[in-house]
Amino acid sequence: MQPTVIAPSILSANFAKLGEEVDTVLAAGADWVHFDVMDNHYVPNLTIGPMVCEALRKHGVTAPIDVHLMVEPVDRIIPDFAKAGASLISFHPEASRHVHRSVQLIKSAGCQAGVVLNPATPVEVLDYVLEELDLVLLMSVNPGFGGQSFIPSALEKLRAVRAMIDARAPHVRLEIDGGVKADNIREIAQAGADTFVAGSAIFNAGDYADVIRRMRAEVDA
Ligand code: DX5
Ligand code: ZN
Repeated sequence: MQPTVIAPSILSANFAKLGEEVDTVLAAGADWVHFDVMDNHYVPNLTIGPMVCEALRKHGVTAPIDVHLMVEPVDRIIPDFAKAGASLISFHPEASRHVHRSVQLIKSAGCQAGVVLNPATPVEVLDYVLEELDLVLLMSVNPGFGGQSFIPSALEKLRAVRAMIDARAPHVRLEIDGGVKADNIREIAQAGADTFVAGSAIFNAGDYADVIRRMRAEVDA
């Protein structure tokens, strides 16, 4: 099990003052910045691209930027994100014709690589690629929007992927994304997650530090 990481999703931040929001949430105790990229094709929403990632780096953000690609095709945009300062890049296997190739592209661009499983995607998709990965990201909502409710079957899936990781690739992080709150994060951690994305739970709160502190306390409890 890797050390706990809290990764606020900036999808729920105020985009009119994004640099300031990211500074504030990192000062409040966040470990990573979760960066949701949507293309209005693979998912029914449109967000931000490499230019915004680069702008955050130029603004002075040094924390890991965890890029979650919800785009199709995947490969073309990988080098752009690497150049823009992404630390980790994850993609949905349904959006890549050659999953192994996309993983290698991410790694050869100097980033850590992750595969994302939608709520209904079977864990077997990891069978022949797990050892190559740095991260598995399990979606606990259908991708496209912040503020949705946690889908309970993700807990069983977390347990299954945790067992695979422990047996075969203990260096791999297990990240959960969607509907994570201070009041369900303990159960999610107990099911095997070590890396927690939370958008609305953090950015809709008045005091980011207080929520992050509560989340960490629940994980460590
Ligand atoms: C959804 C995104 C998530 C989203 C999480 O497609 O991948 O990262 O921002 O938002 P919350 O924490 O509000 O469910
Ligand atoms: Zn995400």
